[in-house]
Amino acid sequence: MGRFMSYWVVIYVIGLARSSLAVNVLFLLADDGGFELGVYRNRIVQTPNIDALAKNSLIFNQAHTSVSSCSPSRAALLSGIPSHQNGMYGLHHGVHHFSSLDSVTTLTSILSKNQIYTGIIGKKHVGPENVYPFDFAHTEQTHESILQVGRNITNIKLLTREFLKEARKKQFFLYIGFHDPHRCGHTHPEYGSFCEKFGDGDEGHGVIPDWTPVVYRPEDVFVPYFIQDTQAAREDIAAQYTTISRLDAGVGLVLEELRVTDVLKNTLIIYTSDNGIPFAAGRTNLYDSGSAVPLLIASPETSARKYEVTNYLTSLVDLVPTIIDWYGLLDSCGVKFPGNSLLPLLQKEKPQSKAKIFYSHNLHEVTMYYPMRAIRTKRYKLIHNLNFNSPFPIDQDLYVSPSFQDLLNRTKQGQTKFWYRSLKHYAHRPEWELFDMKHDPEEVDNLVFTPKYKDILQGLKTDLWLWQKNSSDPWLCSPNGILEHDECMSL
Ligand SMILES: *[C@@H]1O[C@H](CO)[C@@H](O)[C@H](O)[C@H]1NC(C)=O
Ligand SMILES: *[C@@H]1O[C@H](CO)[C@@H](O)[C@H](O)[C@H]1NC(C)=O
Ligand SMILES: *[C@@H]1O[C@H](CO)[C@@H](O)[C@H](O)[C@H]1NC(C)=O
Repeated sequence: MGRFMSYWVVIYVIGLARSSLAVNVLFLLADDGGFELGVYRNRIVQTPNIDALAKNSLIFNQAHTSVSSCSPSRAALLSGIPSHQNGMYGLHHGVHHFSSLDSVTTLTSILSKNQIYTGIIGKKHVGPENVYPFDFAHTEQTHESILQVGRNITNIKLLTREFLKEARKKQFFLYIGFHDPHRCGHTHPEYGSFCEKFGDGDEGHGVIPDWTPVVYRPEDVFVPYFIQDTQAAREDIAAQYTTISRLDAGVGLVLEELRVTDVLKNTLIIYTSDNGIPFAAGRTNLYDSGSAVPLLIASPETSARKYEVTNYLTSLVDLVPTIIDWYGLLDSCGVKFPGNSLLPLLQKEKPQSKAKIFYSHNLHEVTMYYPMRAIRTKRYKLIHNLNFNSPFPIDQDLYVSPSFQDLLNRTKQGQTKFWYRSLKHYAHRPEWELFDMKHDPEEVDNLVFTPKYKDILQGLKTDLWLWQKNSSDPWLCSPNGILEHDECMSL
């Protein structure tokens, strides 16, 4: 009895402390950022600020976006529900014009209702505005240059300072949408040399006062298994590293603003990325090369697990409940999210025997219709390519990139074996792909027709179907479900 009493007293005191203390969240989002970080054992790229943040963080080794495309990923991040359910089926900007459904409840609408001051600096890329409200906003959607609010780290620093003037008097949520290390110059020549390669063109040198470009040699870079080891690809990666180092410097500047304002100690800090890197098999793919993202969660004062690694299988849809939990609003907010709060993990590792996460991709650019649904457990991944009769679409900025042009050129010249798959197989995918992630982490050996895996395949198909049903997937019976599921006949 005594033990129970003190247990409840402790809970009560923690609860009291949590609700009476002004607690804040700083959400740092990289744009197409991958594992090119010191903390993830890349020994070449210099990321001292993110590495320092990792010293206070739980480091996630198995975090995945639920969709590997910018706007859909951000919409899922802010709504806590998958692309097919929140309505952001593709990119938000320009002719693509996708938007979430008006009925969706989002993180910032919940926070606003609870008098938490919300801010966004940098890339927003989601809408409509009333579904994704922020009190303080400097983004491409407030008609500012994305380069200035998303890549000019001096500007980002000054905007953070401005935000904190008001926010320090309240509880706050600050979202920094870095545009680095997204590709830039190839698709936007009008931006001039600010934007060359990955945005490290000459004009930026010296005119972003807080930025000293770090230049890398192509021969030094680490080439991931899904990128061909050629000079063109190495040069592309070296440019990517320079941009990552700028992102890292930006992270340092933002953290310093919070430190001098004396709000760091009550602030939960999350660093992640919207999707995989912009290379073939990266962004827009649901292979791990496109879906796995870095994730650091730091709670400077309260976390028991600093600089520890977790292999907990995590989807980024878990972040909304995590953040809401941090503000103590999980029970009172009135919304039931499919994800789980990750806060308990900061104290103690949880066993995860039946772990499964789900993915839902529909388009990227408006022309790139390629719906996929997938499920991943620790051991297996099953991908359902609903539009498998079409070739896998290639997005514009990837297409014009030196590394993709290099892939095309070599393929045209009849070269083989310079890449870990062939472009032909990359473009033409079967309806179902089943991979054993333990023995085949590169996802090249499709086990769908291997008799030994029949039961595993069936179990995963059933789980995927139930998840689609439960999350009101408009694609549930489309286009082939009608042939496979009797239930679809009556829908
Ligand atoms: C970056 O922002 C700072 C501060 O607003 C400004 O002085 C500088 O000119 C900007 N740099 C570029 C390259 O636009
Ligand atoms: C359906 O999703 C809700 C949350 O959106 C969850 O509470 C419920 O357990 C799910 N049901 C099934 C059968 O998966
Ligand atoms: C690919 O081939 C085209 C045409 O021959 C050439 O202009 C281009 O420089 C090549 N690109 C790469 C990255 O090899």
